[in-house]
Amino acid sequence: MKKNSRFPGFYKLTIQERVEKIKEFSDLSDEEVNLLFNKGNLGLEKANRMIENVIGTFSMPFAVAVNFLINDRDYVVPMVIEEPSVVAALSFAAKLAREGGGFTSVYSGSITTGQIQITDLKDPFGAKVEILKHREEIIKTANDKDPLLISLGGGVTDVEVRVLKDSTESLVIVHLYVDTKDAMGANTVNTMCESVAPLLEKITGGKVYLRIISNLSDRRIVRSKCKVPKDALKFSNFTGEEVIEGILKAYNFAKLDPYRATTHNKGIMNGIDPVLIATGNDWRAQEAAAHAYASKDGKYKPLTVWEKDANGDLVGTIEMPVLVGIVGGATKVHPLAQLSLKIMGIKSVKELAEVIGAVGLGQNLAALRVLSTEGLQKGHMRLHARNIASTAGIPDEYVEQVASLMIKEGIIRVDKAKELYEMLRKKTDKNS
Ligand code: MEV
Repeated sequence: MKKNSRFPGFYKLTIQERVEKIKEFSDLSDEEVNLLFNKGNLGLEKANRMIENVIGTFSMPFAVAVNFLINDRDYVVPMVIEEPSVVAALSFAAKLAREGGGFTSVYSGSITTGQIQITDLKDPFGAKVEILKHREEIIKTANDKDPLLISLGGGVTDVEVRVLKDSTESLVIVHLYVDTKDAMGANTVNTMCESVAPLLEKITGGKVYLRIISNLSDRRIVRSKCKVPKDALKFSNFTGEEVIEGILKAYNFAKLDPYRATTHNKGIMNGIDPVLIATGNDWRAQEAAAHAYASKDGKYKPLTVWEKDANGDLVGTIEMPVLVGIVGGATKVHPLAQLSLKIMGIKSVKELAEVIGAVGLGQNLAALRVLSTEGLQKGHMRLHARNIASTAGIPDEYVEQVASLMIKEGIIRVDKAKELYEMLRKKTDKNS
């Protein structure tokens, strides 16, 4: 029978009713439906209030990276991620950075950019001057929308006007720069942009189209640094000097080649996204911000820099936008988001951004150190083998043994896992 995914009024149904429909559509068993109903730590009702068309909740591993010393304070960092090795690698990098005094992080403050697009103007440069003449009125109109933010010392700090032209039209783009304090700021900024649009149309005689935050958050920048003494970097057959040389070579590769820089930065986001998820933040906004910033000079570049200091020790720095909040949205609704902040002891966006900078830098250190020496696969092997054993449906009590045997035989595949399990099971049966 041909399936029909048109479900009118789906959003109006109860969760139970939605699940019934999906159960039929996707031919789910009762057992599969029960997976959806696993209440987890969010709960179905909360989930149902967060987004539309909810039919269940989805659990992910929640871990902590340890060993962090940032601005002379100790942290453990909650991470929600499905990828093996990331948390272990980050904890190890934090330990290395600790040997050199830990991470130093500074945050520029939460100046969030909003954009209003004005079209149909014959004299865009004339309009620019008119808009700037009304700067105070524009700021007041926007600020009136958020008295709470103003009472906390936030609000619009500046107005900027840009004229963009191509062969078909001229656009006047107004930027509102808003200090959104401890909020991520998208809601606040979008509301403010919408509130000033009629005023801008009146001032210019043009027509406003888009009124929205810009995720290129180049006024919300974290800068972090770590130093790792060369002696702390020696391992296996590698001297500290060799490890540093490898990291510098890896950095140079990323600097020269966008194909490599993309993967280099992906590794940085391996650390950052899980912290955003754990704290209920919008990691898509953060991803967009990070990659756009990486291209800010017209070429896609690594977000970190690696150097060797006068003493021959390794020095790493990162500079990137951080677009997060600790109030509002999922950061307040999801119980684990608040718990994550408590685990870190974080009370401000400034502090969260400073942790995120250190996490991104640490994750990059871990990746470059391994990639430029023994390679990734060796360390991945055990976790990968465990994952494959689980994917093969091997019962939990056999997973370790099956993983070890696969590593020993150098074949890590689902069919191999099943074969080894059968062998182990038969052995156990015989012995019992
Ligand atoms: C894998 O998820 C991330 C790395 O590829 C990052 C990198 O290459 O720098 C290891």
